[in-house]
Amino acid sequence: MNIVVMGQGYVGLPLAMAAVEAGHHVIGFEVDEQRCKQLCSGMSYIGDVSDKALQEALTSGRYQPTCDERRLAGFDVAVIAVPTPLKERLPDLSAVRLATETLARYVRRDVTVVLESTTHPGTTRQIVLPLLEVRSRLRAGISFHLGFSPERIDPGNEQWTFANTPKIVAGLTEGCRDRVQEFYASITQNVIPADSLEEAELAKVFENTFRHVNIALVNELCRVAHTLGVDVWRTLDLAGSKPFGFKKFTPGPGVGGHCLPVDPVFLSHHVRTKFGEPFRLVELAQDINEAQPSYVVTRLQNALNARHGKALKDARVLALGLAYKPGVADSRQSPAVQVVTELKRKGAHVDAVDPHVTGTVHGLFTPLPYQDYDAVVLLTAHKEFDLTQIAAEAPYVLDTRGVMPEAPHIERL
Ligand SMILES: NC(=O)c1ccc[n+]([C@@H]2O[C@H](COP(=O)([O-])OP(=O)(O)OC[C@H]3O[C@@H](n4cnc5c(N)ncnc54)[C@H](O)[C@@H]3O)[C@@H](O)[C@H]2O)c1
Repeated sequence: MNIVVMGQGYVGLPLAMAAVEAGHHVIGFEVDEQRCKQLCSGMSYIGDVSDKALQEALTSGRYQPTCDERRLAGFDVAVIAVPTPLKERLPDLSAVRLATETLARYVRRDVTVVLESTTHPGTTRQIVLPLLEVRSRLRAGISFHLGFSPERIDPGNEQWTFANTPKIVAGLTEGCRDRVQEFYASITQNVIPADSLEEAELAKVFENTFRHVNIALVNELCRVAHTLGVDVWRTLDLAGSKPFGFKKFTPGPGVGGHCLPVDPVFLSHHVRTKFGEPFRLVELAQDINEAQPSYVVTRLQNALNARHGKALKDARVLALGLAYKPGVADSRQSPAVQVVTELKRKGAHVDAVDPHVTGTVHGLFTPLPYQDYDAVVLLTAHKEFDLTQIAAEAPYVLDTRGVMPEAPHIERL
């Protein structure tokens, strides 16, 4: 089949590679010219896609990255995998609208269009469908097929990959869903049909909202336990020994990345605009998680004061990790970046080291020996950090991830 993937980012590029591997011909449409050039030269900017895999796709002749929209002509299946960020703290669907309008000029009879971008329920039917119909002058569900299939990719996860993570598929009509299902069955192992577009859209935002709310719960528990003088990590281990009815989440410096701080807002904002009422638990979780980086700074400030009689102002602090989670280079909306920013704002001299994130002290060396810092704050548990060495040499460590060995000079959040 001739496939078009709109957007060659964390979602679109791995999808394009999977489709090439399955024998399809793929046009990877990208508006960012720099990214397009990089892809054409065989250099991947996505951790889950190696240069080798990209180069093999290019040499197969079945993968063509392009910024030229005329190359969209003649597709059988088009997947929209463009960003759905927040703008001024509100959902921004402008990239979905633009990509759909571009694609609509090339929609012909019998093609299939699938939205993969994460968004609020109703987007495929109320936004994508009319844009496609008006521009193409064809009817969705009659002349062409329309569907939604949310992406669950977890960058850096080696166990659950694009190929083996169950993929939900939904269609405007049963016929549409069959076509969407047929395409995804050719590139993934486990396809789960949904009864409606809205159920699939809601399932996606709810999955990440569930995680977000549970992280907020343990983050708040962490503050309560600290005030009570109880070790929250051991408490969670004990609770986690229950073999049924409990799922363990752990505290941290907050939530980050492209999904967790964003997706619940799509849900809560939609509920507010549609019904004029808040989705209370979701909005509360946002407040708690957004305040967590400041809580980390306060804990560090108090510890410096109580343990070393030192103010945060002019203290030398080493921040370990800036990515939002271990093993990835993605520092978008990372709470670690917020912690570093706030520490600096309060007058600390901060060095930040991340072996994955370029633009920081990139690599494993630190600018100074650990013992020359007043405090080390571990923000991302990258496996490259030598925890034993840090424990042996740093005078004080605030471990926000609960991974350091126990010692009197090491404090867990
Ligand atoms: N990153 C993840 O882990 C993840 C997981 C599940 C779902 N999602 C969702 O998938 C969608 C895409 O996310 P992402 O992480 O791949 O974003 P990304 O920013 O990594 O990639 C999106 C790409 O689309 C390009 N783009 C923007 N407008 C375009 C247009 N009109 N036409 C063509 N290309 C365009 C951008 O230049 C960018 O390269 C979002 O809705 C996101 O919420 C992301």
